[in-house]
Amino acid sequence: MAENMIQADGLVKIYKSKETEVLALQGLDLTVETGELTALIGNSGSGKSTFLNMIGGLDRPSAGSLLVGGKNLFTMTEKDLVEYKRNTVGFVWQNNGRNLLPYLSALENIMLPMHLSSTKKKREKAMELIELVGLAHKKNNHLNTMSGGEQQRIAIAIALANSPKLLLADEPTGSVDAKTADYIFDIFTELNKNGQTILIVTHDVALSKKVKRVVAIRDGKISSERILKESYADRLKEVTIDWRNEDTQEEYVILDKAGRVQIPKELLAALNLKDNKAKIELQDGKILISPPK
Ligand SMILES: Nc1ncnc2c1ncn2[C@@H]1O[C@H](COP(=O)(O)OP(=O)(O)O)[C@@H](O)[C@H]1O
Ligand SMILES: [Mg+2]
Repeated sequence: MAENMIQADGLVKIYKSKETEVLALQGLDLTVETGELTALIGNSGSGKSTFLNMIGGLDRPSAGSLLVGGKNLFTMTEKDLVEYKRNTVGFVWQNNGRNLLPYLSALENIMLPMHLSSTKKKREKAMELIELVGLAHKKNNHLNTMSGGEQQRIAIAIALANSPKLLLADEPTGSVDAKTADYIFDIFTELNKNGQTILIVTHDVALSKKVKRVVAIRDGKISSERILKESYADRLKEVTIDWRNEDTQEEYVILDKAGRVQIPKELLAALNLKDNKAKIELQDGKILISPPK
């Protein structure tokens, strides 16, 4: 069995200020195995970035447990956390400005965070990465002469500079055009084929339809999960498919540790309940939920 890369159990994050308390994660459970490419979707404010920031070690959880690559994000010392952020995780944001230095060349930007022993080794690794993101021909260009989409591809190379076990991306295609979004997504797919574990937050419906596993977060908890149908596994590069409207995945609800499920809104509405009571019974190996008689 593959080792778990991410193991979140009952994860809680509370943002406190003087006046208010925001419960951003409300007991989130998620397991991601090593080698998986997982997409995280959900409405704005549902807790996606909060969760990614916890995993990335940018912010500390309030309660629950979180293990990443076997490391406990709860008990980690500040010193270990610095080391963790450097070597275990790589992070790509929608707005990559904070990663990039405009007056350095693309290649220099990629070399900057590296911890390899010699400049020669750094240069070799940086060349490998810049080829991977398809920008070898622009290796000497300053970042401020490159387009937003190109900068985003460089940001991906930078995130990979120290060969992280886990690549995190928070809406990496959020501010690029559709063609660049596709290109970036292909980079992730290719990386994943070569064994890279990736967790990506995306709003892009068409792209999420091509991912093997999509988990949906609602009100700070994983509410449902979609798994790519076998029949689509080999068709992901077909350009004649209208991915946005294609029914590529099987949808499942997620039971939490206490056996609770969140009934999808439309189904709940169809039950037409007068109050919060419903009848639940086992019938032919299925659980039936119905309004009281
Ligand atoms: N630093 C913060 N301080 C206070 N509240 C925050 C902070 N970051 C996020 N929140 C709140 O936590 C909730 C989840 O936010 P976020 O994780 O950014 O959602 P998403 O990425 O899914 O849009 C929202 O209600 C948001 O306003
Ligand atoms: Mg967000």
